[in-house]
Amino acid sequence: MKKYNRHLVTAALPYANGPVHIGHLAGVYIPADIYVRYLKMKQEDVLFVCGSDEHGVPITIKAKNEGVSPQAIVDRYHNLIRDSFKEFGIEFSNYSRTSGAAHHKVSSDFFKTLYDKGQFIEEESEQYYDTQAQQFLADRYILGTCPKCGNKRAYGDQCEDCGTSLSPLELINPVSTLSGDKPVLKKTTHWYLPLQKHEPFLKKWILEEHTEWKPNVYGQCKSWIDGGLHSRAVSRDLNWGVPVPLEHAAGKVLYVWFDAPIGYITSTQECTPDWEKYWKAEDSKLVHFIGKDNIVFHCIVFPTMLKAHGEYILPENVPANEFLNLEGGKISTSRNWAVWLHEYLQDFKDQQDTLRYVLTANAPETKDNDFTWADFQARNNNELVAILGNFVNRVVVLTHKYFDGKVPACNTLEKIDTQALESIHIAKKSVAEHIETYKFREALKEAMQLARTGNKYLAETEPWKLAKTDMERVKTILHVSLQITANLGLLLEPFIPFAAQKIRNCVQLTKVSWEEINTAILSENQEISNIALLFKKIEDEEIAYQNKKLRDTLKENETEDANTNIKPQKDTIEYPDFEKMDIRVGTILEAEKVPKTDKLMKLRVDVGTDTRTIVSGIAQYFKPEEIIGKQVSVLINLQARKLRGIESQGMVLMAENADGTLHFINPEKNIENGSAIC
Ligand code: MF3
Ligand code: ZN
Repeated sequence: MKKYNRHLVTAALPYANGPVHIGHLAGVYIPADIYVRYLKMKQEDVLFVCGSDEHGVPITIKAKNEGVSPQAIVDRYHNLIRDSFKEFGIEFSNYSRTSGAAHHKVSSDFFKTLYDKGQFIEEESEQYYDTQAQQFLADRYILGTCPKCGNKRAYGDQCEDCGTSLSPLELINPVSTLSGDKPVLKKTTHWYLPLQKHEPFLKKWILEEHTEWKPNVYGQCKSWIDGGLHSRAVSRDLNWGVPVPLEHAAGKVLYVWFDAPIGYITSTQECTPDWEKYWKAEDSKLVHFIGKDNIVFHCIVFPTMLKAHGEYILPENVPANEFLNLEGGKISTSRNWAVWLHEYLQDFKDQQDTLRYVLTANAPETKDNDFTWADFQARNNNELVAILGNFVNRVVVLTHKYFDGKVPACNTLEKIDTQALESIHIAKKSVAEHIETYKFREALKEAMQLARTGNKYLAETEPWKLAKTDMERVKTILHVSLQITANLGLLLEPFIPFAAQKIRNCVQLTKVSWEEINTAILSENQEISNIALLFKKIEDEEIAYQNKKLRDTLKENETEDANTNIKPQKDTIEYPDFEKMDIRVGTILEAEKVPKTDKLMKLRVDVGTDTRTIVSGIAQYFKPEEIIGKQVSVLINLQARKLRGIESQGMVLMAENADGTLHFINPEKNIENGSAIC
């Protein structure tokens, strides 16, 4: 195995277009933080960088919807996101942002270097343009039908229903989200990174040299490479982003996926003047923590950029996670289907470790997983409270009761004692191995196993009973139990740092080092403080409250879904256009279904001027006997036409509800047939 002298760990830059939620934590930030805390305990030289991803179309769309500037949007969320991470103990060396001047310079220089080295292809192509908004329509400014699955609201860059990545030209019936118009094609120039040129390198580097990458990561890379690599545009026609640093590029910015990963470099530069060592020395180990939707960018596009630049090292691993769902549904920022971290912090004060624990124990490492509040409660109450909290508490209380809060002597060890002590070594080795191979769920399980062992040891040795007869034996048992407790304060540090700190405070352990983990960490007579409560039981009412919140969101979404069927306003007309229509109040005199059709009804309607036949497509909504005698609105000067051999002389106007049902439009009280509607 290669020897590394320093580590650079990155966590995907979250988009600053909304707060962060449990999906973010579970997929990226908790695993990254566990890894980094472990490295720090190993006294490794490590930098852990992140920041807000503040460019891209979703941010400009949100800004437009709210009538504020994109900068105002990202300012709002950048701070909220940064604070949420901090509260959860995610300890970045630096949390940067991509709208800052520093990042604009770094990313623009990076582009310039690649440009000067002839790494881009400059090409003119036809792209969708909204003539009304006078703007090219990048990515999410276009909606249309997905050619793969038929989803009517697929974006120009991706269908969120089936996950296919798309180009705007593939969408069926594209519409501009700015004006609702059908966009037109217009010529525009962009810069492209020809991935196909780097295919031999990518094949060798990933498919041959990184067969150890997680199967989900390796598999995605392989299918991209096998499917044939293409040029990818690195610029967009937008006015929000890092301007393309070329003379002939007015109105163009770097594509968000070009500038964002360079944000890792910016963030490292802000940490230390020595940043280059971390990015350029061969003995630095670069690891990217990301979610699965980011794999192609971190394994194929960004490494190609780094390689094309020439000075940078490549990631040693990209341990991407799958997705976390919430109560069976896909987590979604726009649909508010999420547990937001800032809200969790209000509802579960000082219980960050519970969420860290649950999200790690149930991490979507190899497949998508589901977060449920019931599981959250069960894991807190049955594992953290009943196993870990209970063990530590019993040990500390007994030590105070029998030994005045001092570590008792270790007398002759029996087999059960040596076995209990041995489990400390086993846990140390196994937790380390699992963390080093990015299996954090397993690692946590092994660490918790030590607490289970401790509990079992107490249950089997029953020191509270022996206290009446054999105090020397009790000393040994509590000595062993205290050693286990102290080691839990170290082993659990990467996972649940707040509780681990409390345990260490209690046993007065100040050195947070992995090497310290051993069977003689505490010495005889050392003081043990009183322990603060490690974990609080979570009550049924608290869970019921969270579930109600989710049900309310579901209801809101249903109402909203119904509303989205409301069609956009049609083009403006002049009054004479309206005046041409002769609309009158009439009364339905007769009604019968047209045979062999589902929809059509033949009506006789008295429209004041005369009584006429009208064929109307309302048979699915009304029975003939229900509508006879009703007053309705009729367009009487519509050109007559034949439907199923029956001449229809006019049209009964209907209101179509968002759910597709039809309703008559009638005066609020009966008035004379033939009254004009004007
Ligand atoms: N903002 C992206 C997302 O949330 C991740 C960007 S990662 C970076 O999916 F490498 F580009 F920074
Ligand atoms: Zn689709």
